[in-house]
Amino acid sequence: MRIKISQITTSDIGKELTVKGWIKTSRFSKNFGFVEINDGSQFNNFQVIVSEDLKNFEDASKLATTGASVSVSGKLVASPGKGQAFEMQAKTFDIIGLCDPETYPLQKKKHTLEFLRTIAHLRPRTNTIGAIARVRNALAWATHEFFQKRGFIYVNTPIITGSDCEGAGEMFRVSTLDAKNPPLIDGKVDFSQDYFGKETFLTVSGQLNGECYALALSDIYTFGPTFRGENSNTSRHLSEFWMIEPEMAFAELSDDMECAQSYLKHCVKTALEKCPQDMEFFDKFVEPGLIKRLQHVIESPFEHLTYTHAIDILKKAPKKFDYPVSWGIDLQSEHEKYIVEEHCKKPVILTNYPKEIKAFYMKEDADGKTVAAMDTLVAGVGEILGGSQREDNLDLLTKKMDHLGLNKENYWWYLELRKYGSVPHAGFGLGFERLVVFTTGIDNIRDAIPFPRYPKHADF
Ligand code: 4AD
Ligand code: MG
Repeated sequence: MRIKISQITTSDIGKELTVKGWIKTSRFSKNFGFVEINDGSQFNNFQVIVSEDLKNFEDASKLATTGASVSVSGKLVASPGKGQAFEMQAKTFDIIGLCDPETYPLQKKKHTLEFLRTIAHLRPRTNTIGAIARVRNALAWATHEFFQKRGFIYVNTPIITGSDCEGAGEMFRVSTLDAKNPPLIDGKVDFSQDYFGKETFLTVSGQLNGECYALALSDIYTFGPTFRGENSNTSRHLSEFWMIEPEMAFAELSDDMECAQSYLKHCVKTALEKCPQDMEFFDKFVEPGLIKRLQHVIESPFEHLTYTHAIDILKKAPKKFDYPVSWGIDLQSEHEKYIVEEHCKKPVILTNYPKEIKAFYMKEDADGKTVAAMDTLVAGVGEILGGSQREDNLDLLTKKMDHLGLNKENYWWYLELRKYGSVPHAGFGLGFERLVVFTTGIDNIRDAIPFPRYPKHADF
């Protein structure tokens, strides 16, 4: 039976084991060889010693090249060398799949992350992308663990939808109409003849559906793919990303903020505990000081600031911003960066934004100017999550939608939640890939998801 490399411990020394994986490096002399194998279960490689006693030593020394897949059996022995506690003395060394060293793109030399995106099918075999995949997995685990332990119910919300949750109109259309020859009515496309008999899109957020379940099951969370057709070619935006959206009934903005802070801390802590080798690698080669930064996130309470206070801080900042600061603006990333990285030096929860720059469903504050919104900003990322207390008053919500010119017919079911047993409720959405960026210290969100989608890029 094959054992995964991460499962092997010093207590296995003296035992006969079988390991399968891909060759990272190999060095052969006339009668001896060192082969480093990795199966993706952990960051560190597994060292195999091949000696000329092996029946197929001659073949192995020629064919055991970087990238080839192998199955190796032998005795686990304590390693005299530095860098590993044990190694294997191979009794059998079988090459499963050859790998042509002339053409294999992942030779020993270091590649840029930009280049690796062009070989997204092979890049999980690299140290960096493999480590990101494991940390991403740990963060997904931590997400379910956190909410399950708090009694939240995991809900799957639809991917195809007729309503625009964020009201930003950045949705991808879902249609089976013939794009070259669509049916027309009064010169416009007749979507009543489309697959669903109406216009449909890929979801930008599961929140509205999540609210329906929260107003029945109390606390729920979603964790699913989300799509935005915004033309943002930045290191923080993807066209397809994963979002976690908890929604809590009988909850206000303060409950929302507490949940967000505890959840973020739990995720970071879990990644450090579950992926120590990967996190050490990031700390050494990607963002020096990363582990210390994350430890600080876990230990210190987040800063709380109102939007209005943040604007004051920015106005007094001893630096010039490209985008001028005044009350009412949507904060630009240079502003967020200053608040988090220079002024507060820790994660910040910004609250009570002007109502004009936030979505229709947020509860208005007593001043009539701001809403019960909260965004959490962190170093290197900016906005990692955004949420709010929801408007639970039918009259106020209806007026707001009228004011914004939203078509209430599309939201009749959402409005009925306020008609039948309405309760104060709140929630937030966290961009999963931004959490991966924050936890690993990598620069670009395109490396935080296996196969990134962004403008003009939908390969693989
Ligand atoms: O701030 P957003 O737009 O909020 C919502 O969608 C709410 N419905 C959430 C809720 O209250 N349930 O998006 C939430 C988060 C952002 O804070 C950001 O982390 C991430 O989603 N996000 C993106 N991540 C990657 N690429 C993009 N294009 C993103 N747009 C938003
Ligand atoms: Mg937001």
